[in-house]
Amino acid sequence: MNHLISPSLLSANFANLKDDIEMLNKSQADWLHLDIMDGVFVPNISFGFPIIKQVKKNTNKPLDVHLMIVKPDKFINEFKDAGADILTVHYEACTHLNRTIQAIKAKGMKAGVSLNPHTPVSFLQDIIEYVDLVLLMSVNPGFGGQKFIGNTYNKITQLKELINNKNSKALIEVDGGVDMSNAKQLIDAGVDVLVAGSYIFKSDNKTNTIAQLKNI
Ligand code: DX5
Ligand code: ZN
Repeated sequence: MNHLISPSLLSANFANLKDDIEMLNKSQADWLHLDIMDGVFVPNISFGFPIIKQVKKNTNKPLDVHLMIVKPDKFINEFKDAGADILTVHYEACTHLNRTIQAIKAKGMKAGVSLNPHTPVSFLQDIIEYVDLVLLMSVNPGFGGQKFIGNTYNKITQLKELINNKNSKALIEVDGGVDMSNAKQLIDAGVDVLVAGSYIFKSDNKTNTIAQLKNI
């Protein structure tokens, strides 16, 4: 069980977020996954800085911030100030990805890059050595509770190979439709970080569900 669990707060109870954060603090969750959506890059809007700051104030676990926004470069300082520890941008949203990754690292955060389901892993060959994490979207980003896309397994295999060939230390994170029906296969394929939202927050015992995902 060397893999990490990063519960996505998108499915948490925002009317009583503190309860869910306290549950996560006591759980085996390794990171907290925060989904930031701008209504432009993805067809949905989620939450922004005031919420991230409150989450940061109430937890010691690293904040794994997944930006589904256009022009993420504009807000790197703000996400750092709000408390992001890992900042992941989308490949599809960055014209100058190398510059964006450098800017994230210069602020002292870990830098991640995310691929939409249709974006080939091979597009990462000239950036993989500079990133700390690759987030493979296993659903089309924008919403929780969608069905896992099976081609993700092929992408994990390709990514693992690319990481090894380039001597990269990047972690592989998978996000979307993760549950106990696919978690083991994902880990066996080489995934380092599992994100899960609805599977955890819609379960009867969230702490147990996190423990199940962790103790595979
Ligand atoms: C989707 C988000 C995910 C989402 C996952 O755009 O990036 O992090 O919360 O939710 P589930 O686990 O319900 O698919
Ligand atoms: Zn996400």
